[in-house]
Amino acid sequence: MTERSPDRVFIFDTTLRDGEQSPGFHLDPNSKLRIARQLEKLGVDVIEAGFPISSPGDFEACRRIAREIRGATVTALARAVQEDIDAVWGAIKEAESPQIHIVLSVSDVHIERKLGMTREQVIKRGAEMVSYARSLCENVEYSPEDAGRADIDYLIETVETMIAAGANVINIPDTTGYCLPSEFGEIVRRVITGARGSEKALFSVHCHNDLGLAVGNTLAAISAGARRVECTINGIGERAGNTSLEEIVMLLKVRQSKLGLECGIDTTEITRTSRLVAELTGTPVQPNKAVVGANAFAHASGIHQDGVLKDRLNYEIMKPEDVGLSDSRIVLTARSGRHAFRHRLTRLGIELTEAKADIAWQRFLQVADTKKEITDEDLRKIAAIAEGNGNGHEGNGHPPVTDQLNDHNHVADTLRHLIFG
Ligand code: KIV
Ligand code: ZN
Repeated sequence: MTERSPDRVFIFDTTLRDGEQSPGFHLDPNSKLRIARQLEKLGVDVIEAGFPISSPGDFEACRRIAREIRGATVTALARAVQEDIDAVWGAIKEAESPQIHIVLSVSDVHIERKLGMTREQVIKRGAEMVSYARSLCENVEYSPEDAGRADIDYLIETVETMIAAGANVINIPDTTGYCLPSEFGEIVRRVITGARGSEKALFSVHCHNDLGLAVGNTLAAISAGARRVECTINGIGERAGNTSLEEIVMLLKVRQSKLGLECGIDTTEITRTSRLVAELTGTPVQPNKAVVGANAFAHASGIHQDGVLKDRLNYEIMKPEDVGLSDSRIVLTARSGRHAFRHRLTRLGIELTEAKADIAWQRFLQVADTKKEITDEDLRKIAAIAEGNGNGHEGNGHPPVTDQLNDHNHVADTLRHLIFG
């Protein structure tokens, strides 16, 4: 929808199609519509709404999304058969900007072992189905499946043929997540420079994360000239998932001065979108997930907390506000330092004299060794004890610890002071 410029990377979100294909991630039409509305707010360029031939429910979900969403292209997936293409068109034709997406294998392993066809038959079928789709819709994407493992000359021939048949978007998928970034970048570069008519098409990529390289491969493809990326919220998708939208988008933003590329995403909607997808799929995000994991902006060790409290730049390469969070988290654990402890007390409005702060800190160290994390409630109790108003129970489920530190604790505390300040 947006004007093409060499610096613009278009974001194609396939959370509702490839993402929803993950085992146990089923979304009903209402949930799909809620996610599509949030994707619209996020500012994605294309929403892949589903695979309409697969079930009446998915057809309905695609149709409702196509009717309602404005500002983004709405697409859906078809195999290279007329019945699938008719189902896609039936579901998305009322979109403001509809697109038919056709997939057909290109690697010899798929052609022989999955399709039982010859290369010639596959290319002919693909071209016929692209022409058929073009008779319905002026926007047709062709995905030569398993391009990452295909013979490069046959891949180039396929791409040329599909562009000649009317495909205006060519997607290069690393379906099995097999490629190295250097290899995948080279495939994309050779296709773009080698396929006749490539200047008429927009080149897209679709990477899987089987070896943890989906984002790296996507970046390599962008560097090689691809200008559309297929990705999913929280990186969900078949097997180990797809390129994670939040990672590739923040990569473009954080390293903008190096890469010189832009996309139209409102990054402040990222956290809200990630949480909605986690809630509706019933699948929480792993805590250490880049950008959207619970720990992505949390600091727990004394050295890091002290650094962040002095200046965020010491340990944060992006601002939590940029992804829609209000702040970083200073998590209090047994590895925390006194600076973080005082900071959290201050945030609770608790001011202690130096002497009482010392007592509170000793108590904190004792309790912290018995718990994973010290909560605000624990802090209030610790402060009350230091003020002489507490009953000694800090919410750890154990009897009160003695005020008389034993030698071991004393040595540990002295070491903490020396290391963390
Ligand atoms: O992984 C894949 O190849 C796909 C295609 C439909 C693009 O999901
Ligand atoms: Zn895929």
